[in-house]
Amino acid sequence: MQKTIITIFSTFAILSMASCFPKASHVIRSLPVESREQILAQYNQDQLAEGKAIFSSSCDNCHKLKQPETRTAEKWNSIIKRMIPKAKLSDEEGKLVRAYVIANSKTI
Ligand code: HEC
Repeated sequence: MQKTIITIFSTFAILSMASCFPKASHVIRSLPVESREQILAQYNQDQLAEGKAIFSSSCDNCHKLKQPETRTAEKWNSIIKRMIPKAKLSDEEGKLVRAYVIANSKTI
C-alpha cells in the first residue's frame, strides 16, 4: 500500500517537473530546416508582418529582442524551436514568428 502511494506521488512529482521545461509541439518540432528562399516561397508579406508583430510582443519577456539580422537562417532554424515553447506560442503563431526571423536572417 505504501509502495503504491510512493509510486503515485513520484509519478506526479515527475510530471509536474516536466511541465517546467515546455517542449515544442510535434508540429513545431517536425518543421524542416529551411532557407530564406524556401520561407519566402511559402509565406506572403501579410504573414511575415504578422510574424513580426508576434515576435515584437512575445520575444522580449525574458531577454531583449534578438533581432533576426543577428543570426543566420541556419542558426535560427535550431534556436527558434527552443524559443517558441518558452514564449508559449500556438503552432500557428510559432510558424509565423519562425518565418519572420528566417526571412530576415543574416546573409553571409
Ligand atoms: C521564458 C523566457 C523566454 C522567452 C519568452 C523567449 N526566450 Fe529566448 N532565451 C531565453 C533564455 C533563458 C535564453 C538563453 C539560454 C538558451 O539559449 O536557451 C534565450 C536565448 C535566446 C537566443 C540566443 C540563443 C543562442 O544560442 O544564440 C535567441 C536568439 C532567442 N532567445 C530568441 C528568442 C525569440 C525569437 C523568442 C520569441 C519566440 C524568445 N527568445 C523568447 C528565454 C526566453
